[in-house]
Parts: sequence; structure tokens; C-alpha cells
Amino acid sequence: MQPTIATLTLNAAIDQTVTVPGFTLDAVNRVEAVQLDAGGKGINVASFLAHFGHATAAAGLLGRANDALFAQHFAQAGMLDACTRCDGATRTNVKIVDPAQDQVTDLNFPGVTASAADLASVTETLARLTARGLVWLGLCGSLPAGLGADTYARLITEAHAKGVKVALDTSGAALGPALAARPDIVKPNADELGAYLGRALTTPEAVLEAARELVAQGIGLVAVSMGAGGAVLVRGTGAVHARPPRIAVASTVGAGDAMVAGLIHAATLGLDLAATARIATAFSLGALGEIGPRLPERARIEELAHAVEITALG
Ligand SMILES: Nc1ncnc2c1ncn2[C@@H]1O[C@H](COP(=O)(O)OP(=O)(O)OP(=O)(O)O)[C@@H](O)[C@H]1O
Ligand SMILES: [Mg+2]
Repeated sequence: MQPTIATLTLNAAIDQTVTVPGFTLDAVNRVEAVQLDAGGKGINVASFLAHFGHATAAAGLLGRANDALFAQHFAQAGMLDACTRCDGATRTNVKIVDPAQDQVTDLNFPGVTASAADLASVTETLARLTARGLVWLGLCGSLPAGLGADTYARLITEAHAKGVKVALDTSGAALGPALAARPDIVKPNADELGAYLGRALTTPEAVLEAARELVAQGIGLVAVSMGAGGAVLVRGTGAVHARPPRIAVASTVGAGDAMVAGLIHAATLGLDLAATARIATAFSLGALGEIGPRLPERARIEELAHAVEITALG
């Protein structure tokens, strides 16, 4: 099956979740359990889409020294491994989960440094996938050291020139130039969009106004997520607020990534804005109910979609 959707992860990570009941600083701590997951935002998005039956490729950069976990994950998830191998090792991010104190401590490491040759190889892979019938490209996560802040903007322009649509989920220095290249879908959270606009977005009204500004700049669909507060989606003159039901959260890993996958999935089906908001939120809720970046069965996602409350915004 030729992939119709590819995601790009330039700054992948191995997620190491260690369970340490009663985690204490400045002391010896005993690890009760360890779990390793192939991580990185684009890889999560691709996994969720593959889980939903889409022919999906994961492109991007992986360190040659420790790529076995990723290769195994791609095979298991049933997606095409289109990642370029570069020198060095993919970073490991450590998540210390303390169930006794209900605390989570993250140690995020810097990733690989990418070279111009690495980027050229990735670009070539994307061109090859495009020639074989790519419809959507997801650009996800931060840019590694060594690549300019305009990297995503260039990739968006190249994709559009060949008729490929782009969904963007990034933050910080990479976000502004990428937005200027007008992706078809963008999913910042309220903090990320606020940082870009230089003002805090603390109410759904402020989020709606900000999302409308991006749509006015020529972005097709803007979805701004607000954690437990749900998400505001704007497309053309339409706007909705999708409110999740109260659910038990197993882990917040991948909630935003699942929403990106849900938005692409909805776009492939040509769903209207309300239905898009419903299914994208259900993807997030599905991820929240699983430990690590996983989704439950399709029937459960559909059940969750019914429980999402959609309000039209004026
Ligand atoms: N505690 C929660 N309860 C219910 N729903 C939640 C909760 N946290 C997140 N969600 C759902 O998941 C969606 C995306 O979450 P969030 O806004 O936290 O994304 P994010 O900040 O991009 O996350 P990520 O860290 O994965 O990038 C929300 O719009 C909401 O529907
Ligand atoms: Mg996010």
C-alpha cells in the first residue's frame, strides 16, 4: 500500500517512563518499573493514523546507534519506515512517574544535531513519497540543532507546490515562519499560540479571536487545544468549541498528537467542522485513557466522540 499520509519527526526521542513510588530529590531512589516507547510527535501521529487504517509513512531523522526500538515499532504499527539514519544516537527522554505522590518529573535531553546533508536526504524521501501519491504531510515537533527556523516553511512551500496538504504542530522559534507559509491545518495549544502572538490566551474568547487571526492570514483549519478545557476550531467563517467529558486520565502522553492525527483523519473523510472537532477530541480522549502513545479500538473512539460536547461560537 502506497502511503497517502506521511509525518515528519526531525527531533525524535525514546520515551523512558520509570515508576518510582515516593520519588525524592537528593536521595537514592528505587525504580519499580521501566517502559521504553519509540517517541517523537510525528511518530506518534503516524502511529495513531496507522491504527485507524491509513497507509502511513514515518519520515524524519533517527540516530543510527539506537534505531532498533523504532524499526520494531514501525513494523508492529504497520507503517512505512521512511526515516533517514544520521550519526549518533536518538535522545532518551526520561519521565519519572511517582504514583504515591501523584507527581511526574520530566528530563528532556537535547536531540541530535542535524546537518544540511541530513535535511537533503529527508527532503529527497519526501519527494519520493510525494511522487508515489502522498496527500497529507504532518510536520510535528521541534527542530533539531543545526537546522534553520525556516525549515518547516520551506517544506510547506515545497509540499504545496506539488499539491500535498500540510498539517503543522510545532512551537517556539519554528512556529512563526511555518505559519507564514500557510499550512492547511495547524494545532497549537493555547500557550504555544499565545507565545507566538505575544499575549496570554486565558479564555475561550481570547483563543477564538487568536484562531480567527490565523484563518484571516490564509490558514485553512486552526485548532487550538486547551487541555481539559477542550479545543476551539475555526475554519472559514465557522467556529466551534469542543468540550471533552470528564474522563479518567491514564497518561497525558500524546493527547495533542492524537488530536493532530484526528484532524488529518477527519480531513481525509471531508468531515464538517463540528464532526471534525468531535472525532479529533475523541482521538485525544482515547490517547489519555492509555499509558504511552496508544489509541483504543475504533468502537471506543466512536463512543468517546458521542460524549464530546460541541458548541457553535458566534
Ligand atoms: N485532563 C484532560 N481531560 C480531558 N481532556 C483532556 C485533558 N487534557 C487534554 N485533553 C484533551 O486533549 C486535547 C489536547 O490536549 P492538550 O491541549 O493538552 O494538547 P497539547 O498541549 O498539544 O499536548 P501535547 O503535550 O501532547 O503536545 C484537548 O483539546 C482535550 O480535548
Ligand atoms: Mg502539543
